Amino acid sequence: MDNKIIFYNGRFIKNKTFYQFLKDRGFNFGESVYEVIKYQNGILICFDDHIERMERGLREIGMKNPLRRNEWKKICLEVAKKTGNDELSIYIQVTGGATEREHFVERRPEPNYFVFAQKICKRPDKLKIILHPEIRWKRVDIKTTNLLPNVLAKFYAKKKNYDEAIFFEKEGAVKEGTSTNVFYEKDGIFFTPELNGILPGVTRKRLIEFLRNRGIRVIETKIFVWDLFNADSVYLTGTTTEFKPVCSINGVKIKINKNYKTVEKEFLNYLLKISK
Ligand code: PDD
Repeated sequence: MDNKIIFYNGRFIKNKTFYQFLKDRGFNFGESVYEVIKYQNGILICFDDHIERMERGLREIGMKNPLRRNEWKKICLEVAKKTGNDELSIYIQVTGGATEREHFVERRPEPNYFVFAQKICKRPDKLKIILHPEIRWKRVDIKTTNLLPNVLAKFYAKKKNYDEAIFFEKEGAVKEGTSTNVFYEKDGIFFTPELNGILPGVTRKRLIEFLRNRGIRVIETKIFVWDLFNADSVYLTGTTTEFKPVCSINGVKIKINKNYKTVEKEFLNYLLKISK
C-alpha cells in the first residue's frame, strides 16, 4: 500500500503531481537517466547519439524508454521553440517513476519524463583545470543523475577559481571532468582516455571521428596526469563546453596550440553538418 500523506515545506500536500515528484524513484534513489543536447537554429546537435546513449542507459538499469525517438525529437524541438532562443541546451530526464519508497519493487512503475531548455552559459575560451581524486561509483558510463561527486568536485574547483575539475585515479590515471571528456595532443597525435570508467561522451566520439577523417591519429588509451603536463596542448569536450583548450592545470601553465580556434570552428561546423 502506498502511503500518500506527505508533509512538504511546511504543509501537507494533496496534489497528485507533487506525489509523482516526491515519491519518484529518480528523486529518492537517483534512478534516472538524463541527456543534455545542444539546440542551434532549429537543429538538435547529434540528437541520435544522445538518444542512443540514453536508451542504452535505460536498458542497463532495467527501465523502459517511455517514448519513441521521433516523439522525443518532436518534444525537444517544441520545447526549444517555446523557450524561444536560437541556442539552447535541451535537458531530458527519464526517472524511475512513483512508488512506495522500497529499494526493491516487484513491478517497476511507469517512468516519468520531462524536458526543458535553458540558455547555455558562456564558457571561458581557455580553461583552468584542477585535478581531483576520483570519488564516483564504477558505472559512470551510464548517464544517471547521481551527480553529487561531480557537483562537489565542481564546487571545489570553482571555489579555488578553476573552471573544471578532472577526476584521476590513485595510480595517476586521468578519467574525465565533472561534465567533460579530456584530450591531449603530443607530436601531432591526439590521446584520450579509453572507454573505461568514463562517460562515452558524444562530443568525444564525434571529435575522434572528425580528427581521423582529417588524417590525424587519435589513440584511446590509459592516460596519466603527467601526460597532461607534458602535452603540447590539452582540451576538454562536452555538449555545452564544445571543444576548449586548457591553459593551466593546478596553476601550472599548459601550452596552447595557436590553431585551436580554427579546429574548433571546423569541428562545430562538422557537428552541425552531421546533425541536419
Ligand atoms: N555532461 N563526462 C561527464 C561526466 C559528463 O557529464 C559529460 C556531459 C561529458 C561530455 O559528454 P557529451 O559530449 O556527451 O556532452 C563527459 C552534460 C553536458 C551535463 O551533465 O551537463
